Amino acid sequence: MEVDYDVLAPVHEVPARDRALATLRRDSPINWDPENEWWLLTRHADIRHVSRNSEIFSSEPKGPWHVTELHFSMQAMDGKRHLRHRKIVNRGFTPRMVSKLRDRAIRYADEAIDALEGRRSGDFVTDLSVPVPMRIIADMLGVADGDLLRFREWSDAMITMSGAQDDPELLAKTGPLVAELNDYIGEKVRERREQPQDDMLSRIIEAADEGVLEDTPDSADFEHLLNADEIKDIALFLLLAGNETTRNGIAHGMFALFQHPEERARLVADPSLWDTAPDEILRWASPVRAMRRVATRDATLAHQKIRKGESVVMVYASANRDEAVFEDAHSFRVDRSPNEHLAMGFGPHYCLGSNLAKMEMRVTLERILTRLPNLRIADGGKPVFTPSPLIDGIESLPVEW
Ligand code: HEM
Repeated sequence: MEVDYDVLAPVHEVPARDRALATLRRDSPINWDPENEWWLLTRHADIRHVSRNSEIFSSEPKGPWHVTELHFSMQAMDGKRHLRHRKIVNRGFTPRMVSKLRDRAIRYADEAIDALEGRRSGDFVTDLSVPVPMRIIADMLGVADGDLLRFREWSDAMITMSGAQDDPELLAKTGPLVAELNDYIGEKVRERREQPQDDMLSRIIEAADEGVLEDTPDSADFEHLLNADEIKDIALFLLLAGNETTRNGIAHGMFALFQHPEERARLVADPSLWDTAPDEILRWASPVRAMRRVATRDATLAHQKIRKGESVVMVYASANRDEAVFEDAHSFRVDRSPNEHLAMGFGPHYCLGSNLAKMEMRVTLERILTRLPNLRIADGGKPVFTPSPLIDGIESLPVEW
């Protein structure tokens, strides 16, 4: 079926995209896109099915689109190799580590608000959504306070680079910065291996070294330690996966609350609604709009034949509005429960940082609503959205208070 709106266009007119996605869900939920040569999946049930069946629908990079996706580390692995990396990284996310990071997140949110002292306006993204995820990820990777400014420049370059794979000029600009980041993280891995600290990188390195002793080496993959490069890739992937996404979660959260003042008032009156609000923000905004898998063999998906080698694009932004799953799917309700959104994926690759990200969103937005109660979009101000087919981000949002 031909649709008159490109639902993966880099910049969106949201109501038009939502209408096009609703038409696809109803009339052609597995829709062949002849221009891009992939299947577009728009129903919650089909996306769950594909996510769950990773033997048939592979995450490994195959095909031209991956050139622009910056796929690496565990998210681009399948099977045992993926499981092994996932198990190791998961060891970093201990309850104690997350609770320690929560105390830090509160402090960082307060410091970001303190820094606005004496001002009446600013940019929500730069001033209020960037600091917490950036500083938390820096803590996780053991970045010293004195290196924070450089770290910020490097990670911004990495984000820019991830969307610039076919833009040689931008690549030339960001390449050297990303190379510096690579060296810096490589150095941190070496340091932590010699002298572990109380940070997540040290826990991951320990798990990587211990894990191999527990494994029976029944495959070539399992016979060696994760080498320093693999651990460095994990650290860089955590930076890519956990920084911009959470920043966008915070910015989208505030934008949704600006657009729904009645929901904002409910959160202020009853803070217990913060137990459900982060999930509703994620459902509403889908900061990661879509992900792709590639069929490893011929398969049938909801009566549609998918051939070996063909790509399927899972549009989370559509699954999260699926009327078959969500009551009143097109309303933003901070008390929505249950809320089985797919904004953080599903199945074997389900987001490892989901609790951390939701904690950061909650803490930051809670502090902002409490300390800047009359924060509003600046007169005439409009959000600028990230020009990307995969990331639903907000680049800037002028605010005043
Ligand atoms: C609002 C914030 C976030 C969103 C929307 C998000 C979204 C996602 C999605 C959709 C996936 C699944 C990818 C796939 O199936 O191919 C994923 C995986 C992942 N995320 Fe997140 N994420 C967020 C925050 C974080 C944070 C804070 C971290 C850690 C610091 C993190 C670490 C990961 C990792 C390690 C994976 C790969 C899991 C695997 O392949 O097994 N994410 N995330």
